[in-house]
Amino acid sequence: MSDETPRTIGILTSGGDCSGLNAVIRAVVHRAIHGYGWRVLGIEDGTVGLIVRPVRFQELTLRFFTGDILRLGGTILGTRNTGDPFDFLMPDGTRLDRSDDFIAGYRELGLDGLLGVGGDGSLKILHRLAVKGGLNFIGIPKTIDNDVAKTEMSVGFSTAVSTAVDALDRLQPTAASHERVMVLEVMGRDAGHIALYAGIAGGADVILIPEIPYDINKVAEKLKSLHDQGRDHALVVCSEAAHEVSGVQTAAQTDRGGVKYGGVGHALGAKIAELTGAETRVTVLGHVQRGGVPNAQDRITASAFGVRAVDLLAEGVTGRMVAWQHRQIVDVSLDDVTHHSRPVDRSETLVQTARGLGISLGD
Ligand code: F6P
Repeated sequence: MSDETPRTIGILTSGGDCSGLNAVIRAVVHRAIHGYGWRVLGIEDGTVGLIVRPVRFQELTLRFFTGDILRLGGTILGTRNTGDPFDFLMPDGTRLDRSDDFIAGYRELGLDGLLGVGGDGSLKILHRLAVKGGLNFIGIPKTIDNDVAKTEMSVGFSTAVSTAVDALDRLQPTAASHERVMVLEVMGRDAGHIALYAGIAGGADVILIPEIPYDINKVAEKLKSLHDQGRDHALVVCSEAAHEVSGVQTAAQTDRGGVKYGGVGHALGAKIAELTGAETRVTVLGHVQRGGVPNAQDRITASAFGVRAVDLLAEGVTGRMVAWQHRQIVDVSLDDVTHHSRPVDRSETLVQTARGLGISLGD
């Protein structure tokens, strides 16, 4: 493509949604159009938009920079967490490799580059597609789970934590009024970041995360000792994939073979009631953590990631992901990101903080 021809870039959101996706889109639109005079095409429904024919997309103009898009939850482009082009589920239930269709869709739109906003699973797939098709690709990390490698912050995490803290702020007074143990189950898949952050910020007495298997007897001991000290209520936060040292985990299989978590809170609540005699209630926060107005931190992260991702394409960079490290936006190789995720490290600062506050981690 000659230098005089306006460049055209695409953006898609892939995987589970979260707050802040539209703030990313807004930043990308502004930087690409105002900064470089490019066209921006929004690909609809994640990878699906480039696989199907006609290709599904909408041109994103500066109209998308105004109004309330910064504040909107969800994604105006739509998303899928079941759209792997290498293993694509067809309407008749069969699976096909549609990666060539995705690559052809990129060419059909005349894209010079693609930005993909996704978690570790989506970024892995998009990176593989880009390598296969020789596509210019930059990844932008998003997930409430905050488990994408090489970045301290992913879009959506902060708002999910705020929502969980808000839930604890509401649960504490009712726990105190009724002298109850309140169990709050939060999301996070295999990572305990949401539980750890929210538990510390929300004044939890016990935080259970998958990275630190718990002993139910130690959880009960902690709650009994609080009671003996005169405290008549308690807050327990557990990650959806928290499990006992014995390995017992409450999870259900999805119809596509992936693991779908949920239910650990109720199992835990019943056990706590049995072992401590405390009146116990359970709240499962679920998808409430994914929706809603993005908080200030997520809007900032989204804006910074969006601007830098466009700049990277302008610099001719490909195969990288924007990342947040030591209060700076950097870019890292997608090869380094897509081979492992970022669980809570047992030795990390906030684990020590929790222990220092006397919070039981169940071990
Ligand atoms: O990865 C984000 C996440 O919200 C996880 O925390 C959760 O386990 C999962 O997605 C839920 O997926 P679904 O929306 O398919 O139920």
